[in-house]
Amino acid sequence: MATTDIPEQLKKFEVPGRVTVLEGNGEMPKIEVRTDWGTAEIYLHGAHVTEFQKRGEPPLLFTSQFSRFEAGQGIRGGVPVIFPWFGAREGEAAHGFARVSDWELHETSAVPEGGVTLRFRLPETPESATWPAFTANYVVTVTDRLTLELIITNISAGQPFSFENCLHTYFHVGDVRTVSITGLKGAAYLDKVENFASKTEAADAIQISSEVDRVYLDTTAAVEILDSALKRKIRVEKRGSASTVVWNPWIAKAQQMPDFGNEEYQQMVCVESGNVSKNKIVLPPGKSAVLKVVLSSEKI
Ligand code: BG6
Repeated sequence: MATTDIPEQLKKFEVPGRVTVLEGNGEMPKIEVRTDWGTAEIYLHGAHVTEFQKRGEPPLLFTSQFSRFEAGQGIRGGVPVIFPWFGAREGEAAHGFARVSDWELHETSAVPEGGVTLRFRLPETPESATWPAFTANYVVTVTDRLTLELIITNISAGQPFSFENCLHTYFHVGDVRTVSITGLKGAAYLDKVENFASKTEAADAIQISSEVDRVYLDTTAAVEILDSALKRKIRVEKRGSASTVVWNPWIAKAQQMPDFGNEEYQQMVCVESGNVSKNKIVLPPGKSAVLKVVLSSEKI
């Protein structure tokens, strides 16, 4: 799709000076957002935010130089929307179909304070039809912070809808070995690197010096990432999220991932907010679950 071929039904969402629809990588439609504070980029593929950058700061999100931008493949980096299951599932794609589906753009609006709000909806797909009837909406608000809201509504006649969700955020850091992650002390976690062993976080500040893949359960508080190399503090505030996942693939796993550079593990850490494992959501008919994450940063 050439940029001039962006369909009219997408072009109509452009807001002069604020929202532009372009051809992105892999000829996929991409939405560029400009605000009074900086820029963001979102692909319809996966409703995937791939970039958020405040003026005068390095990018907040990490996206791999080796990411695929292909139908059926997730984008490596940014904020994958994980739904309706987290992790591996026999015979199916890891982390659910939402991140590999093409979402529909439903609304864009410039908010008076100088930011932009975009609303996406997951269309019905053959995969979604095998679940109790639901709607999935995703609202992205770009200001001096990035606010992400995933709203799942059970519209079935009478079935509870049981699912996992997660905003699998990849943060860009200067050097992962000098990063400290706070806010999880005392939390119970499943250590996926040790076959899901149950442990309790003892550290005031988590440091990373090997592969880390942990699901922290019953964790609702904000998490902060102190990045001494970039002299920046990132804050992850959340609502409607009982789980926090911390992930860095480190050296061996990085080498096994075809869509990730061998050295890129040094420049990223995932701090993911959602409801997974025993925190999965069981939604009664007619009810909605809102997962809201606010990402902000300041210089230190
Ligand atoms: C994390 C999981 O959330 O995502 C890890 O806890 C997984 O186990 C990682 O390796 C990346 O997953 P994927 O499917 O994007 O390679």
